[in-house]
Amino acid sequence: MNKVKFYKGGEQPLELHKVRVVQKLHLVPIERRMEALKEGGFNTFRLSTLDVYLDMLTDSGVNAMSDNQVAAMMHADDAYAGSQSFIRLQKAVEDVMGKKYLLPAHQGRACENILAKAFIKKGNVVPMNYHFTTTLAHVQEMGARVAELYYDRAMELKSDYPFKGNMNIEKLEELILAEGKENIPYIRMEASTNLIGGQPFSMANLMDVRRIADKYGIMLVLDASLLGENAYLIKQREDKWKENSLGEILKMMTGLADIVYFSARKLTSSRGGGICTNQRELYNKMEALIPLFEGFLTYGGISVREIEAMTVGMYETLDETAISQSPEFIKYLVTELEKRGVPMVTPPGVLGAHVNAMEFCSHIPQDQYPAGALAAAFYLISGVRGMERGTVSSTRDENGKEIPADVELLRLAVPRRVFTLSQINYVIDRMHWLYDNRHLIGGLRFVYEPNVLRFFMGGLEPTSNWPNRLMEKFREDFGDSL
Ligand code: F0G
Repeated sequence: MNKVKFYKGGEQPLELHKVRVVQKLHLVPIERRMEALKEGGFNTFRLSTLDVYLDMLTDSGVNAMSDNQVAAMMHADDAYAGSQSFIRLQKAVEDVMGKKYLLPAHQGRACENILAKAFIKKGNVVPMNYHFTTTLAHVQEMGARVAELYYDRAMELKSDYPFKGNMNIEKLEELILAEGKENIPYIRMEASTNLIGGQPFSMANLMDVRRIADKYGIMLVLDASLLGENAYLIKQREDKWKENSLGEILKMMTGLADIVYFSARKLTSSRGGGICTNQRELYNKMEALIPLFEGFLTYGGISVREIEAMTVGMYETLDETAISQSPEFIKYLVTELEKRGVPMVTPPGVLGAHVNAMEFCSHIPQDQYPAGALAAAFYLISGVRGMERGTVSSTRDENGKEIPADVELLRLAVPRRVFTLSQINYVIDRMHWLYDNRHLIGGLRFVYEPNVLRFFMGGLEPTSNWPNRLMEKFREDFGDSL
């Protein structure tokens, strides 16, 4: 993708696909967006897509499918048991990831549920390069805890360190010695640590983790939901791998893990999820849980049509033009926003561009949720829906005290092959304006706070009438523009 040079220089991503099916979007006026925010409790999860112009909430289940994926869905083999669609998926998983036993589950967090139930016991600790919201919830459900083992520089939001997703090897060994290996059911590595800016780990780091896992006889589990993009950044950033194909890098990564699981909503631009391994005894420990929680072993709660799309999507993770599209658009978005002074998480990662809300809204205390406030403010002035990744996405401790998140981010997801460059330029323009008017943004407080995963359905309200002031300024500067 970045191999195309422009006459007058400059870096600009170029699409290597064409659009053949389109969906109409709605850019409603700011007055309607204000109403929508109030109706949705200032929580972007609760907005209706009729009120959303660019949906940058997530890449989950919203990547564009290829023509071949859609075509494959037409020859699905509908059967409760023994479906040929599943056989085809099994082969794709073995071809791409090199694992022969596959357990299907309806999405990524369902895989986490199965893993937790099969392997985690009360009082255990699960080391991770960083947690993901649903992963943490499943570990806690079992009465266990997570140890976050990152290097300090992972939290330096503005950085040129290429692998902020690396696991801290020294801390890993210390933890094993302190806790005892029998208290650690597995080590979990997440490809492109979602919550700290979609930052990849290096192959060298994964190999180091494997070495420690072998030394102490602990299992290594790889969350491969964003494996393709992590592999692409390894190819870009780790010298040793720059001549290898994506396929070779992917296989090497999955080969280092005992168990690989994934959200197919992300990895293969479809729906579904899967857990795979080459070790029959591990497969056996999980097998019975699939019919109990998901569905029979040859569909696992996934429609067979989606299984066909997953199969094709699995092979498409080997296609650099498909996998590079989102990271290259993200790089453009981050670079252009940085040029305008907006504090961004750097280096650009995968999944989306991440705005450092703690710096953007440095006047908003963390217990008034700067990232949540920024997400609401940005939707208000642009119709673009991002996602809060900060304290709202965190939890309270057992005494009801807020646990402030390590970072306060607004994530602007860039699903694969969905947005055009002019839409990305609109995002840049509106974010630039908001940055220049950031003093008008105020805090939020909860009015409805669920106990588990509160960020999904929680309701908030502004701590003052700042949304109105922001709307007035918008009208002043943009007149009757949408
Ligand atoms: N692991 C990672 C690294 C993820 O990013 C996700 C989902 C999951 C597991 C769970 O998968 O959604 O299929 O159940 N991330 C989505 C996001 C929700 O928006 O970042 P799932």
